[in-house]
Amino acid sequence: MDAITGRHAANGSPMASRTTTNARQLFTEEMSADVVTSSLGPDTDPRVRRVLTSLVRHLHAFVKEVQLTDREWEAGIEFLTATGQKCDDLRQEFILLSDVLGVSMLVETINHRAVREATEQTVLGPFHLVSSPDRPLGADINLTGTGKPCLVTGSVRDIDGRPVPGATVDVWQADADGFYDVQKPEEIPERNLRGLFRTDAAGDFWFRTIVPRYYPIPVDGPVGDLLRATGRHPYRPAHIHFIVEAPGFETVTTHIFHAEDPYLDSDAVFGVKESLIRTFAEVDDEDRAAAFAMPNPFHEVRFDCVLRPSGATSRTARA
Ligand code: BEZ
Ligand code: FE
Repeated sequence: MDAITGRHAANGSPMASRTTTNARQLFTEEMSADVVTSSLGPDTDPRVRRVLTSLVRHLHAFVKEVQLTDREWEAGIEFLTATGQKCDDLRQEFILLSDVLGVSMLVETINHRAVREATEQTVLGPFHLVSSPDRPLGADINLTGTGKPCLVTGSVRDIDGRPVPGATVDVWQADADGFYDVQKPEEIPERNLRGLFRTDAAGDFWFRTIVPRYYPIPVDGPVGDLLRATGRHPYRPAHIHFIVEAPGFETVTTHIFHAEDPYLDSDAVFGVKESLIRTFAEVDDEDRAAAFAMPNPFHEVRFDCVLRPSGATSRTARA
């Protein structure tokens, strides 16, 4: 019987050898993180060991730094419980929490560091829930007829400027009131403002849509409470989402942002990168309008996407 724990220890077991060598490491404030990390078994996967050891060290340092009270610990547990309870097939409150704490953008940024002039990435967001419908080049993805008509033209190229024909360009955006189709399935037609296009032989694509508008991230859950408690607004600056994919290249998940948006400098999820800001110009040109089946005048924006070759990103690659 172990004199301290009251537990039986077989001869030769770790408990027996600890007792005999007097190497017992009991929990103390000073040694708290070491006590926990040294409990990891010898067969723990090395990456799991590295991540968990660091997590425990940072968590313990945090608790000590702020001198976390019992009540604050309870509030934290209640907050995380409510965050989990808010999740379902259509709602991922934990990702939203990661987004508003800047963790999603940090993970994104360290895993996709800028490589030459390749298009930068930004957050995927929670609204790419459904696959976009295949659409021919030039299609209008606005199924409701509301909003300011906008022509999007662009190209997909490699980092040496060569066109990438046959690349898929997956597009989705919120409507003129700031809602994605999946947020209001009774009111907004399914697959509104979504489309999956393929670049032509010259690596070009174009489609018709509406000028995006800023909109709030969902605030009817614990993340909304957090924003209100900390005096933060919930808005994302106006943007159009893209996922551009082609064999032999790294897939790019990104947005283009409206250059005149009032929330460019204070995106609720920190997704804005300078290189992704675009002008949605007003165009008054009957011939161009007719060529693209647009009403005149209309808005137009260009997105030239540059793909990096597969395997070009590494954790250490820096611009
Ligand atoms: C979005 O742009 O769709 C989005 C991104 C992060 C959180 C909420 C929404
Ligand atoms: Fe969005």
